[in-house]
Amino acid sequence: MEFTKYAGHRKPVTIAVVGAGLRGREYARLAERSGRGRVVAVAEPDPARRSAFQQAYGMERSSVFEGWTDLAAAPRIADVAIIATQDRQHADPAVRLAGLGYHLLLEKPMAPTEAEARRIADAVTAAGVIGAVCHVLRYTSYTRALKALLDEGRVGELVNVQHLEPVGWWHQAHSFVRGNWRNSAESGPMLLTKSCHDLDWLAYLLGGAPTSVASFGGLAHFHPGKKPDGAAARCLDCAVESTCPYSAKRLYLACVDDDELAEWPLPAVTAERSREAVLLALREGPYGRCVYDCDNDVVDNQVVAMQYASGLTATFTMTAFTPMQRRRTRLFGSHGCIDGDGRFLRVTDFRTGETETIDAGSTTGAGHDGGDGGLVDALLAAVGDGDPARLSSTMAASLDSHRVVWAAERARLTGTVVTL
Ligand SMILES: NC(=O)c1ccc[n+]([C@@H]2O[C@H](COP(=O)([O-])OP(=O)(O)OC[C@H]3O[C@@H](n4cnc5c(N)ncnc54)[C@H](O)[C@@H]3O)[C@@H](O)[C@H]2O)c1
Repeated sequence: MEFTKYAGHRKPVTIAVVGAGLRGREYARLAERSGRGRVVAVAEPDPARRSAFQQAYGMERSSVFEGWTDLAAAPRIADVAIIATQDRQHADPAVRLAGLGYHLLLEKPMAPTEAEARRIADAVTAAGVIGAVCHVLRYTSYTRALKALLDEGRVGELVNVQHLEPVGWWHQAHSFVRGNWRNSAESGPMLLTKSCHDLDWLAYLLGGAPTSVASFGGLAHFHPGKKPDGAAARCLDCAVESTCPYSAKRLYLACVDDDELAEWPLPAVTAERSREAVLLALREGPYGRCVYDCDNDVVDNQVVAMQYASGLTATFTMTAFTPMQRRRTRLFGSHGCIDGDGRFLRVTDFRTGETETIDAGSTTGAGHDGGDGGLVDALLAAVGDGDPARLSSTMAASLDSHRVVWAAERARLTGTVVTL
């Protein structure tokens, strides 16, 4: 792949944001904060979001578009396009904007199907632009420390890995039962919309994709068969709401008085931070629905078993039924093992029997433990310096890790072992 036509430049890297939703706004903020990026254009159909974004960055009217097609109809006006539209609206803008010479920061998942994801990867290659998929877990200090331990051979030859994604009971209810990623026909299967991060992260740490995969899982709890007696269609009308772990009233009213929860998940529910606005949203909107009475079909638990060419084996578990925590990983090697909880890495050496504890994580916990900022910094450095190696991945590598997701999902649905 050749990137030489994009020589580095010392000026700020200019950015057009496609989709000024939760993610688009966050990446824009981080790009400006880094000092290397300048947000100069936006494409957003929602008038309130569009005008708030325009004001926040003091944009000319000519740099504000009602959708990505209008942006793509104009001559290129920025170095980078951040594509932060919803999952099924990634491929078309990515292909068109890469073709216009925009470097891409593309939200995950790349696309719902392999054919569309491949179209994006091919367009990026053909245009010779830099393309990064927002696999933010690659860009945390924790991941860097863990990768360094493995690359140094601290545990000898890796034999087996266990990786757990504890989604969290209320996070599952918010995003995958009531929210945007609840229905596979509207977004995609949960292994793609959520856990593509994990399968990409494992590919990064373990040096590539597995050769075969098996998978099991399903929707164990969030369906009408588990609806308690006396429950109503909405939490505001429900006689058993106060005893339900998934009460929307409890979850979203608590967000009003909590600065962190007011940043997320509250803005998905209502644009206004007040009890009145929350109660109105719960009365009328999707987030007030009973978790046993939604149009959700994505899994609430799934396991994937993987075999690698080297003989290494790995398992991945995603479950809703936990507190919302950092991922946990245990890596077992011939000379030692590592137990990681997303912040601390406990490294046991079999020769000495001793365990060293490394504090490898961010202390703030913000933005995927610093992964969001790390990704934005890497992308701006890659574009600003004309050096794609500043990113830890390529579009082609992201396509490869997405292919593991589709293979595992096929394995789950067909009850077979799928060879990649
Ligand atoms: N990397 C991560 O860890 C991470 C975390 C959360 C979400 N995501 C992904 O980020 C993406 C965006 O998620 P979000 O929560 O910000 O969603 P969102 O719904 O808040 O934002 C999407 C925005 O796109 C806008 N949009 C719709 N059609 C458009 C068009 N034609 N042109 C331009 N904009 C258009 C919408 O109006 C909306 O404002 C999704 O693909 C999601 O899966 C990634």
